[in-house]
Amino acid sequence: MQKFKDSIEEASKEFTSNVVLALDVQEKDPELLMKKCEEVINKVSQHVCGIKFGRPLILKLSLSNRIKDLIRLTKERGLVTIMDAKINDVAHTNLNIATQYFDVGFDAIIASPFVGWEGGLDSVFHEASKRNRGIILLVHMSHKGASQGYGRYVIDPDSSERIPQYLIFAKNALAWKADGAVVGATHPEIIVSVKKILGEKVPIFAPGVIAQGATPKDAVKAGADYLIVGRGIFSSPEPDKAAEKIKNEVNSAIR
Ligand code: XMP
Repeated sequence: MQKFKDSIEEASKEFTSNVVLALDVQEKDPELLMKKCEEVINKVSQHVCGIKFGRPLILKLSLSNRIKDLIRLTKERGLVTIMDAKINDVAHTNLNIATQYFDVGFDAIIASPFVGWEGGLDSVFHEASKRNRGIILLVHMSHKGASQGYGRYVIDPDSSERIPQYLIFAKNALAWKADGAVVGATHPEIIVSVKKILGEKVPIFAPGVIAQGATPKDAVKAGADYLIVGRGIFSSPEPDKAAEKIKNEVNSAIR
């Protein structure tokens, strides 16, 4: 099995798309929800490189055969699967959570660096590396309140200078060999400064375009490698066309 970073790059080349669909479809009835999820995956699969699953979907469908079926469908389409678990606990609990997600077939998991390495995320990074799966770290979120945590000023343990928390998280992503860093697209200037640290070593995944107001073009120009898009695609009456449009916008911004 190849590394997650290589798998997503391969899918992105195959479909000429750097867009990851956030499968946040909502429906009360689990059967109907499954049907809608399958429909969306089938419609957009030619225009995205991966599908991100969220905790609301897992709560509704549980880590059962239904989720396995959606993972299988996603993989049959040649796409990678990301679980947005925002892992944020002590090591043995984190490992338990990550193991369950990896066991059902997820290729990568999103985790929160606030808990630190030792006795925090060390266990999940080791587990991911054993299985050639990926860990993507939350470096800065896109909502307004994100600055209260991710953007607050702290003392850099290396230089003793006052720097924003997200720069320390970006350095963590590099040092811990993360497979990706999430940086909200609503702050392109933050993407620019995180990119300076990560370069080409750790790709930046940017959510926050369309529904939250940021543009694909600005996010890509700032340095985002992949865009995570939910409502801008699946809430459209024509999700395939919406995905294709975003894909093309991203591709022309890359060029
Ligand atoms: P929309 O519908 O806004 O969905 O395109 C974005 C998806 O990404 C997840 N996610 C985040 N969203 N800022 C965000 O806006 C973040 O920092 C972030 N991290 C993850 C969100 O849960 C949704 O699935």
